[in-house]
Amino acid sequence: MPENFTSRDKTIKKWIDEISRVVLNNIDSQLEIEQKTAPNDLVTNMDKWVEKELVKKIRTTFPSDRILGEEGFGDAIEDMNGTVWFIDPIDGTLNFILQNENFALMLAVYEDGIAIQSYIFDVTLNRLYSAIKGEGVSCNGQRLPEPYDAALEEGILATNSSIMIEEKYDHIRKIAKESLGLRLVGSAGLESVEVAKGSIVAYIATNLKPWDVAPGLLFMQELGLKATQFNNEPLDLLNNNNIIFATNKAHEEIIKLIN
Ligand code: IPD
Ligand code: CA
Ligand code: CA
Repeated sequence: MPENFTSRDKTIKKWIDEISRVVLNNIDSQLEIEQKTAPNDLVTNMDKWVEKELVKKIRTTFPSDRILGEEGFGDAIEDMNGTVWFIDPIDGTLNFILQNENFALMLAVYEDGIAIQSYIFDVTLNRLYSAIKGEGVSCNGQRLPEPYDAALEEGILATNSSIMIEEKYDHIRKIAKESLGLRLVGSAGLESVEVAKGSIVAYIATNLKPWDVAPGLLFMQELGLKATQFNNEPLDLLNNNNIIFATNKAHEEIIKLIN
């Protein structure tokens, strides 16, 4: 593994550790909550603080890199040239506010459009899922095995709420009938982790932003899993995507059922 990946990995893990401690210490404190585009699209003072801290650290340590952050403290990114960082400071903000759990701090680093490193930290369970290109995926340093290539009928399917509630997705909801059961966690990052662990066979979700999918994409690549848009095209990290993260078998079945 190139030395610069190893040292950047150590640096990122230290940042995640420092920042997530502050999030945990403030989990019961009064949050300042603002609505963004809709009543269920919220941002808190903690989301903003986490992103600002990460942006500050990246800019100090890696000044020529560019940053795409959900809360807008990074750069306007229109291409994937050079080193680009993706930040989702709190993935699962609604869970963070209402459940005090089931949320994650997420980071990914891409070089010329190739996923190099990614991090999904389940803050309340203290589980850090991380990957370096070519080195597999680990949970708190323990390497995850490649999951068994389960078919839809052998496992659980996860999805997001817009698929459940919007009429135009009737045909997609039918996919659930082919699986053993359906789950909604409400954090794209933690659902990506479930696919990586083999505890669900697929995660299908609509309208995910680049920072929702950038870390999970490397996990899929490292574990021989599939990550595509609904039309079977590769993910587009400069736009919103309807995504399928799945085992090879489940992916093939889902593509047939969707199209
Ligand atoms: C959201 C979560 C949710 C997904 C939404 C995302 P946020 O992220 O990942 O599961 O369905 O599309 O926007 O807003 O909590 O960071
Ligand atoms: Ca998110
Ligand atoms: Ca977020």
